Amino acid sequence: MLDGNPRLNLASFVTTWMEPECDKLMMAAINKNYVDMDDYPVTTELQNRCVNMIAHLFNAPLGDSETAVGVGTVGSSEAIMLAGLAFKRKWQNKRRAEGKPCDKPNIVTGANVQVCWEKFANYFEVELKEVKLREGYYVMDPIKAVELVDENTICVAAILGSTLNGEFEDVKLLNELLIEKNKLTGWDTPIHVDAASGGFIAPFIYPELEWDFRLPLVKSINVSGHKYGLVYAGIGWVIWRNKEDLPDELIFHINYLGADQPTFTLNFSKGSSQVIAQYYQIIRLGYEGYQNVMENCRENALVLKQGLEKTGRFNIVSKDNGVPLVAFSLKDNSCHSEFEVSDMLRRFGWIVPAYTMPPDAQHVTVLRVVIREDFSRTLAERLVIDITKVLHELDALPARISAKIAGEEDKVKNGMVVKKTALETQREITNAWKKLVTDRKSQVC
Ligand SMILES: Cc1ncc(COP(=O)(O)O)c(C=O)c1O
Repeated sequence: MLDGNPRLNLASFVTTWMEPECDKLMMAAINKNYVDMDDYPVTTELQNRCVNMIAHLFNAPLGDSETAVGVGTVGSSEAIMLAGLAFKRKWQNKRRAEGKPCDKPNIVTGANVQVCWEKFANYFEVELKEVKLREGYYVMDPIKAVELVDENTICVAAILGSTLNGEFEDVKLLNELLIEKNKLTGWDTPIHVDAASGGFIAPFIYPELEWDFRLPLVKSINVSGHKYGLVYAGIGWVIWRNKEDLPDELIFHINYLGADQPTFTLNFSKGSSQVIAQYYQIIRLGYEGYQNVMENCRENALVLKQGLEKTGRFNIVSKDNGVPLVAFSLKDNSCHSEFEVSDMLRRFGWIVPAYTMPPDAQHVTVLRVVIREDFSRTLAERLVIDITKVLHELDALPARISAKIAGEEDKVKNGMVVKKTALETQREITNAWKKLVTDRKSQVC
């Protein structure tokens, strides 16, 4: 009860509403451990069908009778760890076969990558080579990315739908540039696409956009089933282009639960509900259903964007063609910051995060509203009204007091301790919060 309201949580891409029929279905499956595949063969079959359907959606080059190569995971983070491991192992095997050192693998990404890529690099000892951003350009520049590629690069990771502003990176250009570099150098550096959000958006509303297995260097793709796949938290997918891209030695075979079961996951036990719910959504909605949902989200994002523009107080940092979200900055944040706007919106129940961009655009702060299926046009209009109210309230307040840190001692005046006003205390907390956030890399999800 004391938590925020999930549907007003505009910070998250993760699904907060499903049909009541599916809620029931998920409850009915809650006591099935997914890993007991031999005992729950139908659930296993549904996962395999999901993998096949998603692989087709991503244009995997599959023959009529061929099954796709992929697995269900707990989310995109696990999917990315698995994809990263496959790249690392393939690269190591090749280097060993050539008699070359294989102890310094690296991966090239934009500085805008989600924290799971930093985790992968840290946990699996791969150097992360990040292309820096700049003001006005908040995604990985493919030209700079390819410049960073060397013989130790296990892959370049492009994002279809940057976490920070929803923008799709130019995977097609990256593919072209990398083909050229591979030709010149004799390397065969591949591409992974982190389509955590965009994987369930682009195929439906930007079908012409080439970002997936239509591009020859794209060897694996992850997508979060629990984002625009429209399932509650706890499901992701990773699909490989074909069998050769997933080294066989990473697949474990267990037989103590019944028949031989191949597994390639970081976890063992997990719930079955999310897999069943993903299958339900794909079958229930079909291509047209997903297309309608995504178009609706895009339109609601537009309504919100236009409402914010009308206030005359914000610069829009997101693009119209990307993940349906609106990222925006105050045109003038000299008196009051985006963090204060975020803080004050909480009083209306809205959860709208404020964060700073990664290097070299860390001086830019944005607010971000993610538009999900359960965010309606009425809510968009309501949010604009509440943001306008917050702006008026902030205008009526004096400019921020430059308190050093929250918890600063009460002022001492003529030897007397003078209590801080509630407003001063609130400002100090806001400033301390801002400092905490700016000192860290943004960890929005
Ligand atoms: C681009 C991107 N990649 C990966 C992730 C991690 O996804 P998950 O929460 O499914 O692990 C996110 C989460 O927001 C993301 O936006």
